[in-house]
Amino acid sequence: MNILKDKVVLITGSSRGIGRAIAKKCALEGADIVVNYRKAGGSSQAQAEELCTEIGGMGRRVLMVHADIAVRDSVRSMLGEVTEKMGRLDCLILNAAKAPFKPIEKLFERELRQLVDTNYTGNIFCIQAALPLLEKSEGKIIFISSLGSRFYNPAYPLGSMKAAMESVMRDCAESLRSKNISANAVCGGIVKTDSFKVLRQFWDNIDMLPAGMYVEPEEIADVVLFLCSDAGRGISGQTIVVDRGLSNAICRTPGDRADNTKI
Ligand SMILES: NC(=O)c1ccc[n+]([C@@H]2O[C@H](COP(=O)([O-])OP(=O)(O)OC[C@H]3O[C@@H](n4cnc5c(N)ncnc54)[C@H](OP(=O)(O)O)[C@@H]3O)[C@@H](O)[C@H]2O)c1
Repeated sequence: MNILKDKVVLITGSSRGIGRAIAKKCALEGADIVVNYRKAGGSSQAQAEELCTEIGGMGRRVLMVHADIAVRDSVRSMLGEVTEKMGRLDCLILNAAKAPFKPIEKLFERELRQLVDTNYTGNIFCIQAALPLLEKSEGKIIFISSLGSRFYNPAYPLGSMKAAMESVMRDCAESLRSKNISANAVCGGIVKTDSFKVLRQFWDNIDMLPAGMYVEPEEIADVVLFLCSDAGRGISGQTIVVDRGLSNAICRTPGDRADNTKI
């Protein structure tokens, strides 16, 4: 349908997982894509290169940028490349995340700083650096959040950063309204990406979750696509939860579900 024809979408941390699914969906709908990855010379770069080849094969323009969002100069240089090589930016998708899985009280200073630098400060660096381009396009900012923003997850300090970023998103929605820039968040349930493999080591009962409650990366990507498109133009300052109803059923006890599945 090409609902994003002639639009340029930048997805941070898009070499794999949910970011990759968002990049592919947007490209399939006609957008030109900026793929960002952090780790040079390893599997992340190889996956980013493979993704760019696939998107290029769809007939889209694609720019691959190595940048660490936690480093301001790196972010500025990424947006400089976007300006020079793509000429515009319509949607900024704040997807990159990195955090240790351990209780808050056990975080070393280095881990605590990395948690904030990547998942809070880094996202704000991206918003600030992208603003001149987003102002021109009257663009959109979409933050990828998780249920940890509102519910306790074992060994998941990232949840506190997700809560902070949902607040930043609401702040941006209002402060950038006069520039016709919208800001929203998509809050995902549990998705079986690389980070899930680590998460399940700390979450004793996770295997009680019925298979049908896991969210596919494409389900999150579909909602991001909707928000990027003209169909989402009336929405700003909102967090849309995509969790297959998991959080709605949080007070149900095991065996207490109509379909007899445990939760
Ligand atoms: N998986 C879930 O259950 C779930 C649920 C809800 C929301 N989410 C959120 O969805 C987003 C994607 O999650 P995912 O599970 O797909 O994660 P993932 O598989 O761990 O991928 C994370 C991506 O972020 C990149 N990244 C990390 N630090 C970066 C930095 N400083 N600068 C640039 N890129 C960086 C990584 O690149 P490198 O490998 O190069 O470091 C990687 O491509 C995250 O915001 C996550 O919190 C995940």
